[in-house]
Amino acid sequence: MARLFTPIRFRDTEIKNRIFVSPMCQYSAEQGLANHWHLVHLGGLAVGGAGLVMVEATAVAPEGRITPFCLGIWSDEHVQALRPIVDFIRQQNAVPAIQLAHAGRKASCDAPWREGKFLPPDQGGWQTVAPSAIPLTDAHGTPQALSHEDIQHTIAQFRTAALRALQAGFEVLELHCAHGYLLHEFLSPLSNHRGDEYGGSLENRCRLPLQIARELRALWPQEKPVFVRISATDWVEGGWDIEQSIQFSTWLKEIGIDLIDCSSGGLTLDAKIPAGPGYQTTFAQRIRSEAGIASAAVGLITSALQAEHILVSGQADVIMMARKLLSDPHWPLHAARELRTDVPWPDQYVRAKNI
Ligand SMILES: Cc1cc2nc3c(=O)[nH]c(=O)nc-3n(C[C@H](O)[C@H](O)[C@H](O)COP(=O)(O)O)c2cc1C
Repeated sequence: MARLFTPIRFRDTEIKNRIFVSPMCQYSAEQGLANHWHLVHLGGLAVGGAGLVMVEATAVAPEGRITPFCLGIWSDEHVQALRPIVDFIRQQNAVPAIQLAHAGRKASCDAPWREGKFLPPDQGGWQTVAPSAIPLTDAHGTPQALSHEDIQHTIAQFRTAALRALQAGFEVLELHCAHGYLLHEFLSPLSNHRGDEYGGSLENRCRLPLQIARELRALWPQEKPVFVRISATDWVEGGWDIEQSIQFSTWLKEIGIDLIDCSSGGLTLDAKIPAGPGYQTTFAQRIRSEAGIASAAVGLITSALQAEHILVSGQADVIMMARKLLSDPHWPLHAARELRTDVPWPDQYVRAKNI
């Protein structure tokens, strides 16, 4: 049996294979509420055979949304909207996961297919927040630096959101510390110029992400896993890098985090990213071997043999995939055939299995 289709266990959660749907914003919600689009999109990916299906970056507060069309989880109504999606994913024998996020200074933008421009408050946007009052670009609003009290409030928002995710029935929680959003902004010396205990040294810049990770680990049931997504490097001289990521991952491991999902970039828009097949896999490999924690490889992994090689050569424990699954939601079923592994197809689709 191919390693890609060998089950993996985190705590008491058994996942039928190592193809995980990477979180993907759909910019299709109103007031943060999941709707039919999210059910069909995520449900289709579960039907397609992925072992774990992760819901897109879901904001812990309205001002933590990237766009006015992003999902949120700040009220009980949001829980009700997510529940049928969770149930459907489970019915397909896949594991439902959710990524909890706060967009920080990258919030308040339009949908990418409308150019993703910053939306000022008089155009449907809002005042953004960040560790320091440094805008992403001149075209973005200047974020308000979070006060000490605001930081405590943000921690509470993540805590309440996680409790709601549990009520909705999710099995796995992922904390979004990547892509230049609020928690990554705290980690990187390029966006964090604070002079208090949340800025300066590596320990201080990691303080808030670690505090939130600790809170989530404490409230999420012991038998269920918690993942953290990081940007392993800013790809900018003097920014956050792989060495700091390894130290951060070591601390996350001590807290009881189960897996580091190793992405990169997103903090600045001018970074030179050498995007190519598997371009972030070496980060997953280093974190796995040097921090001694399970890792996910993500980024331009598009073929079954490539995914299998990453696992068999010990570079990562699981594969996260995004765009390839958008173009072919049934990719896992086809990949199994390519790797000569027999996996069950949904009853409704069995007649298509051998054509
Ligand atoms: C449409 C789209 C939406 C995305 N939204 C998110 C998101 O909500 N959270 C996140 O961490 N990454 C997000 N990403 C990044 C992907 O999860 C993934 O890391 C990236 O696309 C690289 O993987 P790929 O080459 O398989 O697409 C998004 C990517 C795409 C294409």
